[in-house]
Amino acid sequence: METISIGLLGLGTVGSGVVKVIKSHQDKLIHQVGCPVEVKKVLVKDIQKVRDVDIDSTILTTNPNEVVANSEIDIVIEVMGGVEETKNHLLQALENKKHVVTANKDLMAVYGAELLAAASSNRCDLFYEASVAGGVPILRSLVDGLASDRITKMMGIVNGTTNYILTKMSKHGSAYEDVLLEAQKLGYAEADPTSDVEGLDAARKMAILSTLGFSMNVDLDDVKVSGISSVSEEDLQYSKQLGYTMKLIGIAHRHGEKVEVSVQPTLLPNAHPLASVNDEYNAVYVYGEAVGETMFYGPGAGSLPTATAVVSDLVGVMKNMRLGVNGQSAVLPQFPKQLKKDDE
Ligand code: NDP
Ligand code: HSE
Repeated sequence: METISIGLLGLGTVGSGVVKVIKSHQDKLIHQVGCPVEVKKVLVKDIQKVRDVDIDSTILTTNPNEVVANSEIDIVIEVMGGVEETKNHLLQALENKKHVVTANKDLMAVYGAELLAAASSNRCDLFYEASVAGGVPILRSLVDGLASDRITKMMGIVNGTTNYILTKMSKHGSAYEDVLLEAQKLGYAEADPTSDVEGLDAARKMAILSTLGFSMNVDLDDVKVSGISSVSEEDLQYSKQLGYTMKLIGIAHRHGEKVEVSVQPTLLPNAHPLASVNDEYNAVYVYGEAVGETMFYGPGAGSLPTATAVVSDLVGVMKNMRLGVNGQSAVLPQFPKQLKKDDE
């Protein structure tokens, strides 16, 4: 029985979770793909750093080529974050015929089309389920589960950090700065949490959801964004007194052939199902012409939930390897993009 060898780019919150899930679920992985899975090399910034995961320190490296150009590695998992440098690593990995799994929405929202085209031309898989809504399998549901339907609207909470902050501020009267610090310690926030609190992280996820849901190449620049950094404790207390809950909501709407995508703090009546999605949890409503309304709910950030999505993508790649069908669905057919203007 052959072993599938994995190269990891990054061993932080998500990367450590990936190592733990691969180790603790090895029997399930073998059952599904018929062979063991081994993490062979791991790129980190600081080899000396104390880590909360049991790993052989001799497989750590600071040289990306030992992962992306390593002939012993079959699949590269990118959980290091960043955009330009990371894109180059992934292009190199794909050119070296390595399948790629990434959790990186910053990268996929900007260079998704280019990377998917590179994957396709190299007959490699490039999967990115963990890039939206952490452990909630929303991308696979849009692409496969709802493949037959015409999606008209997607609406939801797609950032765990801001949901955690708003929940703690409104339910416990906690101070914004304190809860942001907690969210960072819990591993929910981005390396630079500005992208969480200013709504950019949610906007990237809405761009990815819209691209897949509407089969149209929606860019980050197409999303109207405002975040929660100016929301005060008083705003939240007043909303509560009036029977409303404030949430950072992403909405992607199809009006005929045109789409409109936005992210903003929104007052929801307390009885609205999204009003009771708390802490780091995410939820996305998807409206389809035929199916009607569906809702996807679960942990939107954090080590093990996100790692579950990453390792599920890994299983997808390995199943395709067994069948010899990698790279066949990397690029999906797109309609021409048509954005709805404000005055339309
Ligand atoms: P962390 O900051 O916890 O981990 C990043 C890891 O990558 C670290 O191990 C770091 O090394 C390594 N790294 C970063 N830059 C470099 C570099 N230039 N060269 C070598 N190694 C590098 O990030 P997360 O695990 O939280 O996030 C990783 C990715 O997953 C991001 O794209 C994020 O957006 C995405 N994501 C995160 C979620 C979460 O809940 N945290 C959920 C969904 C997606 P070292 O350890 O030595 O510092
Ligand atoms: N910083 C992100 C969030 C991580 O809080 O939702 C998950 O994508």
